[in-house]
Amino acid sequence: MKNRFSRRHFMGGAAAALGALGLRPASALGLRLPPPPPGLAPVDPYDDLVKLASNENPYGPSEKMMASMNAAWKYSNRYGYPDGDIREKIAAHHGVDTRNIIMNAGSGETLRVAGLAFLGHNEKVVGVEPTFMTVYSVASGIDADPIMRPLLPDHTQDIDDLIQVTKRNYRDVGMVYVCNPNNPTGVVVPDSDIRHLLDNIPEDIPVLIDEAYHHFVQDPAYATAVPYIQEGRKVLVTRTFSKIYGMAGLRLGYGIAPAEMIAEMRIHSTGSVNALVKWGGVAALEDNESEAWVRDTTIALRDAAANELRDQGFEVIPSETNFFMVHTGRPASEVRSAFRQRNIAVGRNFPPMLDYLRVSIGTESEMEAFLAGWKEIFPNGMTATGSR
Ligand SMILES: Cc1ncc(COP(=O)(O)O)c(C=O)c1O
Repeated sequence: MKNRFSRRHFMGGAAAALGALGLRPASALGLRLPPPPPGLAPVDPYDDLVKLASNENPYGPSEKMMASMNAAWKYSNRYGYPDGDIREKIAAHHGVDTRNIIMNAGSGETLRVAGLAFLGHNEKVVGVEPTFMTVYSVASGIDADPIMRPLLPDHTQDIDDLIQVTKRNYRDVGMVYVCNPNNPTGVVVPDSDIRHLLDNIPEDIPVLIDEAYHHFVQDPAYATAVPYIQEGRKVLVTRTFSKIYGMAGLRLGYGIAPAEMIAEMRIHSTGSVNALVKWGGVAALEDNESEAWVRDTTIALRDAAANELRDQGFEVIPSETNFFMVHTGRPASEVRSAFRQRNIAVGRNFPPMLDYLRVSIGTESEMEAFLAGWKEIFPNGMTATGSR
């Protein structure tokens, strides 16, 4: 179910808007980080910055996750220690064997390790642009240039084009990368398209499907690609605890793939995930209530803000994630600078979509600050840009 909010909801305060949906405020679930002890209070303006630039979860780990991590301090001086069976729990979560799991300090590391494992002999990676660039930068770093293909005019990924390009370059291609849903557009690749891709490229080419934003998707045409691994296909699915579970600064991510692919990747992986993070991850997988709250609240605030901008005449790409892209009609870099002057950080450049701004979903008050800033930067709505 999509939560459609009107401007009236925001005018009445985002807290009231959440209440209308039966969602409790963050503080009710303990989803608010405690202030730092006085001696540790930061002297730079970091805490005051409205951070809507990196698709983080603004609430941080849940109370249950914090309790689990706090109880793990006693392992901080040990090498071998009980780790809550995190690998077993991740494997069970997906109905696969532990041999199908590689754990890393963030899924960015899993992407890097995949690049080193599958592009190591100067093979190329095929995917779209714009998308999440880590795999492409690994490829460039080892002289295995990416083949980046444009999105279709409706911002979807052109799967037939990816198939053709992969086949044409078969000898050189080491991996295909699909970010689903895509960052920065927030648009999903339907499951039928994923199957079409897998059925039509040579079966020995690994396909990396990056599901960092999986937990926010509501579109019934989308499905996780994990079942393709169970079918025995050369698929690597990556997931992260940085988004839905609020652990971006703690670093935990993982990959799911056939055991042979995991073994190839492990050679390049440090596997350095610390004791606290492992225990935080175990609690995160079990804390369904907080997960549902973060998802529902994020989606409600996303749709409210997007609808507000649409009401003002702006095109907002329908998003299935914890961010959205809005057409600014002028260089997004200018709009970003104007927001930065108001102490709000938004997006970055995503060539070739240089007149679109990516906005991550923050808390209620952060989204109110964003919309107030938008009003000042675009006082006359979309017409003021003259680009429509
Ligand atoms: C699509 C995508 N994949 C992977 C990552 C990496 O996340 P992390 O390394 O924090 O797990 C991000 C982070 O923004 C992302 O957007």
